[in-house]
Amino acid sequence: LRHFLSVEGLPRTTLTEILDTAESLASAASQNVKKVPLLRGKTIVNLFFEPSTRTRTTFELAAKRLSADSLNMNISASSTSKGESLLDMLHNLEAMQCDMFVVRHAESGAANFIARNVGDSIAVVNAGDGRHAHPTQAMLDMFTIRRHKGEFHNLRVAIVGDVGHSRVARSQIHALTTLGVPEVRVIGPKTLIPESLRGLGVHIYHDLDEGLDGVDVVLVLRLQNERMGAALLPSEREYFHLYGITAERLERAADDAIVLHPGPINRGVEIDSEVADGERSVILEQVTHGIAVRMAAMSLVMGQHPGKDGEARA
Ligand code: CP
Repeated sequence: LRHFLSVEGLPRTTLTEILDTAESLASAASQNVKKVPLLRGKTIVNLFFEPSTRTRTTFELAAKRLSADSLNMNISASSTSKGESLLDMLHNLEAMQCDMFVVRHAESGAANFIARNVGDSIAVVNAGDGRHAHPTQAMLDMFTIRRHKGEFHNLRVAIVGDVGHSRVARSQIHALTTLGVPEVRVIGPKTLIPESLRGLGVHIYHDLDEGLDGVDVVLVLRLQNERMGAALLPSEREYFHLYGITAERLERAADDAIVLHPGPINRGVEIDSEVADGERSVILEQVTHGIAVRMAAMSLVMGQHPGKDGEARA
């Protein structure tokens, strides 16, 4: 991996390597080897042009646990507010001999643009761009699914909600299909499910009960009001009535179905608190796994392949 910009187009072997590397790092952490020297001497800059709680914090923790020097650029207090261009800011950071940029941006394609315009010594990791991609989120979701289900080839997975505006859903669909999930369903109102998704091999449902029938994994999405524009939408109350994940609706899924959500969750809109906090929910596990998965992604783009004990090997 030179950069990690998207899951789309990556082979199964690469996705599996990320999951296996994360597994070895998580296993080392569970034996109290939380900090490893894989990226000692490297400098990682978090460039978050959009708000974030989970992604930004877990990237920062991951960098620290890899022994890298990490810093969070305060974009609103940077000289971009005095008219400096994004590229000039990046070239100045490059001149400070930084090694990696972790980028979140509201514009789809921003991370790819940055990767094309920085020098060969900088790796770029996409922390979410517009409605395009959120590759590390998708990989931590895959990690969580694999921890609970073991395999991908026998799963029915449903993605529920605002798929149309979701960078997470797009990355999840690519990851699930590449890892061999035979049946990926997307469920939501016509206004939030683009027909073009059929080209990615997913099955579209507009009825929640039908879509949930027999699924092993339910991936719930937030209504992304910040990207909604003029989409024709039901009210939040109506949306909850039609598509909200409640304990009663979940009875249609497999008995051992698990429920994931990338966060932030809107309780009482896309998910009921009884489910979010219930025994099928693995939402906080996802957050924990985000650290190991981001450690793995950052190690691999820097050419480090941790062994089973989390130590670097050639
Ligand atoms: N899942 C996710 O990207 O959350 P944040 O926006 O808080 O980083």
